[in-house]
Amino acid sequence: RVTMVIRSTTGVSVSTALPILTKLQKDCATPLPLLRNIADAMAKDMRDGLEVDGGSDLKMILSYVDSLPTGNERGLFYALDLGGTNFRVLRTQLGGKDERVIDTEFEQVSIPQDLMSGTSEELFDFIALALAKFVKKEGGKFVLPKNRSRETGFTFSFPVKQTSIDSGILIKWTKGFAVSGTPGRDIVACLNEAMGRQGLDMRVSALVNDTVATLAGARYWDNNVMVAVILGTGTNACYVEAVDAIPKLQGHNSISGRTIVNTEWGAFSNGLPLTEYDREMDAESINPGEQLFEKTISGMYLGEIVRRVLVRMEETGSLFGNYIPERLHTPFALGTPNISSMQQDTSQDLENVGSILYESIGVDSNLDARKMVVEVCDTIAKRGGRLAGAGIVGILQKMEEDSKGIVFGKRMVVAMDGGLYEHYPQYRRYLKEAVTELLGPELSGHVVIEHSKDGSGIGAALLAATNSIYEH
Ligand code: GLC
Repeated sequence: RVTMVIRSTTGVSVSTALPILTKLQKDCATPLPLLRNIADAMAKDMRDGLEVDGGSDLKMILSYVDSLPTGNERGLFYALDLGGTNFRVLRTQLGGKDERVIDTEFEQVSIPQDLMSGTSEELFDFIALALAKFVKKEGGKFVLPKNRSRETGFTFSFPVKQTSIDSGILIKWTKGFAVSGTPGRDIVACLNEAMGRQGLDMRVSALVNDTVATLAGARYWDNNVMVAVILGTGTNACYVEAVDAIPKLQGHNSISGRTIVNTEWGAFSNGLPLTEYDREMDAESINPGEQLFEKTISGMYLGEIVRRVLVRMEETGSLFGNYIPERLHTPFALGTPNISSMQQDTSQDLENVGSILYESIGVDSNLDARKMVVEVCDTIAKRGGRLAGAGIVGILQKMEEDSKGIVFGKRMVVAMDGGLYEHYPQYRRYLKEAVTELLGPELSGHVVIEHSKDGSGIGAALLAATNSIYEH
């Protein structure tokens, strides 16, 4: 820390940064009419995507999940969860209506960076190995009836064209994954091959998106859950749709008359208030032009947008003094957890903001610079949270237009999960404010936005139970 004092930042003025902030706030503004347009466009894109594959930015993927957990599920089930920076395995022993979840165990391993851009075999071997190790530790309250294979739900949080409840083809990678050989292949086949190499006998009974698993997990406890939203590394939403409202669905019979649709709303792009920083980040990303909603509102990107603004401020007016470290110029050096932590600093001298800036991007800062940084974080979080709120209203609007009273006639629950939603209070507040502003106080009274923590793990296991080949 001695070096910090020597490289004193006194005298650095933020006056040249101010116009940059003002322009940023203007470009990121999300007044009510803009939010309304976003909600309307979301509802329209949903309809167009349900009409025909490729009908809009939204893929509106059919999940083949037609029946949701009821609480009667019994037995031992596993779940695998691959979708962000971590891979999780879980087992749960379900005891039916009265006992519900008897016991659950899970383990989490972080995915080594090089596997995210390696080969398909390497990634799936890594998964199968972690799973095999976890299965070996089974015991205690977890019992597999004789002569049965273990069954698992597989939460795979990328756009997959489902071909049945237990098969589906990867359309493309998102969220920084660039593994070769997987797009175009059946994900369950990839996993089965890797499990075969490990000598592991496990049957994938349900392949699901994380939104779908979250909806199932939340629904297990609450019958009014109709929508699930993930705001984490990436973002997406799914909801319960009437089969009759899906023109592109042909020859698929659902006994319940309903099915879950995975919107893949991360690809939404209509009317977004984008800045030069967003455009540059997108152009330099591994998937330019894609996932624009995701790049504007989700956890992988918010910190990076802030960093890009700070670079501009630094270049035009030396916001952080004369010594500019490499790290300020390193993409993704500033994470969304960093910007959230900075916004939680309520101290007079914003000491915590200072240390986070120093530790993440290596810069020294005086109080004025720190205040400026917090303003930038707030601007980006506010835009993200409010746009996410507008997206949710778009879904509710579409559901209500199709069947009056479905949303606003009773209590309607939107299950939320993901690190961004969970750990960024300001973001969460902005999201909820936007929903209330758009719906008005009376209608928004019917809508409950509820955190469903880790619902996706248990949800996938529940869907494995619902789709089990055995009697339970
Ligand atoms: C990305 C994926 C999507 C997933 C979301 C949240 O948008 O494409 O499938 O649900 O991230 O994890």
